[in-house]
Amino acid sequence: MTPNADPTRTEHRLITVQQHILQEQKRFPGASGEFSWLLSGITLAAKMIQAKVRRAGLSDILGTDGETNVQGEIQQKLDVSANEVLAHCLSVRESIGVLASEENEQPIMVHNNSPAAKYAVVFDPLDGSSNIDVNVSVGTTFSILRRPDEAHLDDHESWLLQPGRKQIAAGYVVYGSSTILVYSVGNGVHGFTLDPAVGAFVLSHPNMRMPDQGKYYSVNEAYCDEFPPRYGEYIDRLRHGTLGHKYGSRYIGSMVADFHRTLLKGGVFLYPPTTDQPDGKLRLLYEAEPRCVSRRTSRWNRARWNASSAGCRANQHSPTNAAGRGESSRTRRF
Ligand code: AHG
Ligand code: MN
Ligand code: MN
Repeated sequence: MTPNADPTRTEHRLITVQQHILQEQKRFPGASGEFSWLLSGITLAAKMIQAKVRRAGLSDILGTDGETNVQGEIQQKLDVSANEVLAHCLSVRESIGVLASEENEQPIMVHNNSPAAKYAVVFDPLDGSSNIDVNVSVGTTFSILRRPDEAHLDDHESWLLQPGRKQIAAGYVVYGSSTILVYSVGNGVHGFTLDPAVGAFVLSHPNMRMPDQGKYYSVNEAYCDEFPPRYGEYIDRLRHGTLGHKYGSRYIGSMVADFHRTLLKGGVFLYPPTTDQPDGKLRLLYEAEPRCVSRRTSRWNRARWNASSAGCRANQHSPTNAAGRGESSRTRRF
């Protein structure tokens, strides 16, 4: 810095995710530091997971674990490791009462019966894990819910199975060409890139907005023949330019990375029902609903969203409850 430089000038100001969260928690009356402490558990876990991901190939962390998870999918070693890291980092936060992971059969109750425990955290520890072995982007997704006032302390279903619109914060981390953490507490969507030199997530994408006009659609076209006809017709319209211009195609196969690109560049991402997955593949609680917070707060183009699928918007209003839907429910609309 030159002798005359003013360190308070905007261009010299570096905003870390921790500073940002401290600002944002003022929106939650009575949160008094606990919310930032909770979120710091997620940012710490993200740094630990990215360190493991970056060493994949050097350490004995590639490949499958030999186990099948509750979703019926083969677990990768990094799925297990990332799950343990998140459970470890979050279970020491006193304000958390329930942890629900895509990799666990049952939610984990922590700080049993403590009235101070008033949040549930839901996460997919490693999304797109089948891409790890081939150096393709993977991610972590999370969502935070507050214990309903009337809920019994040990009734984890009523903590977890709430309408998507009840989420108080949600976000994701992409372990890609850089590591970026994107989160929202309903007041804009903000992205923080990990500066490996200082070990901090630094604000790089304030107030992310999805462009009105996108370039790409993102879908696994190998299943096109199995989609209900209206999905195929819609994709044809995108390809042929009858929706403004001709769309190109991009599909990574890691939802979190496909979503992140769609948020930045515009376009549509969808995973329609298939013969094998008549209710869709993406998990409502762990994958779809957390993304809805980002989608809603970044003003996703509603017309295009409705054309592709109405599900995410509907999920904001439809209770996820024990009658018919549970922690493992899927969604056919995204
Ligand atoms: P996960 O690795 O957490 O099980 O999620 C994989 C999901 C999602 O990330 C991605 O969009 C989708 O599976 C890809 O499925 P296909 O291989 O059927 O396209
Ligand atoms: Mn996933
Ligand atoms: Mn996963």
